[in-house]
Amino acid sequence: MLEKINQIKKEIADLQASNAEMLEALRIKYLSKKGVITSLFNDFRTVPNEQKKEIGQKLNELKDLATERINALRDAFAEKQNDDTAIDLTRSAAPAPLGTRHPISLVRQEIIDIFSRLGFTVAEGPEIEDDWHVFSALNFAEDHPARDMQDTFFIQRSPDVLLRTHTSSVQTRTMEHTQPPIRIICPGRVYRNEAISYRAHCFFHQVEALYVAKDVSFSDLRQVLLYFAREMFGPDTKIRLRPSYFPFTEPSAEMDISCNICGGKGCAFCKNTGWVEILGCGMVDPNVLESCGIDSKVYSGYALGMGIERITNLKYRVKDLRMFSENDMRFLDEFKPAH
Ligand code: DAH
Repeated sequence: MLEKINQIKKEIADLQASNAEMLEALRIKYLSKKGVITSLFNDFRTVPNEQKKEIGQKLNELKDLATERINALRDAFAEKQNDDTAIDLTRSAAPAPLGTRHPISLVRQEIIDIFSRLGFTVAEGPEIEDDWHVFSALNFAEDHPARDMQDTFFIQRSPDVLLRTHTSSVQTRTMEHTQPPIRIICPGRVYRNEAISYRAHCFFHQVEALYVAKDVSFSDLRQVLLYFAREMFGPDTKIRLRPSYFPFTEPSAEMDISCNICGGKGCAFCKNTGWVEILGCGMVDPNVLESCGIDSKVYSGYALGMGIERITNLKYRVKDLRMFSENDMRFLDEFKPAH
């Protein structure tokens, strides 16, 4: 009997099963009613009394061992099965939806690229600003209407803390710390206290460009504007400069481009004029240079500023400004690059 028990013990240590049927066969062989171990328990009756204690103990150990081994095999087997179903290598890949670049980001990058080719580098500044950087240093008179609560979101009064209304504040910040030559392009978000409609929003995006050096003239500005317009809207694009007024430039101008929707023939977008306004510009007012610690007798410069939404509308014909901030995937998906 003892010999038999030891032999079965050895067998059990080596048991293997690679599928459910093999496992069940082993259970039947050792542990079922007619199994090897059960029949040993039946034979137990014939064991002489003085050996009953020792053999009984051994038999119980054997049964436990067999049960443990078969359970362990089952667990290992179940785990393997789970693995197999968790990773089905034959399945085709789930199509993960890819994001898209926002149209404003696309156009901002295009503007930056064009100006980079002319040697401009990106400069940035804070959206929460003070009166000096947004207005005073830029030659806004104390009673200029743009300071009015109508246009500007004030966070605090005296001292004034406000949301910048234009990226021209980055001009101020750069000129304060840098002596010419300065050649920067400043993209960023700006805020105005406007009623929201299809054509106005309380925040939008601008790009500002500033060049300050010795002997900078209006014709330098004009040439850069023409280059920009042609790179952005195509080589046949024409530009036209109209006199205008900004506190921080003198002389000031607004630039129109030939309407790229109707090709200058006249349409609803250009109100049948054949021209659309895209930016403001001018020669940096000497007062601004002096406010920022730059000698206006030695240096001169030009500046220009444009709304990215407006350029985007012209390029992609988005009719409602609100689309840019609504995160509607149907709209954003239209700007997916073609594969
Ligand atoms: N800051 C002006 C605006 O928000 C745009 C602008 C006009 C910027 C003329 C300039 C400029 O740098 O020279 O409407």
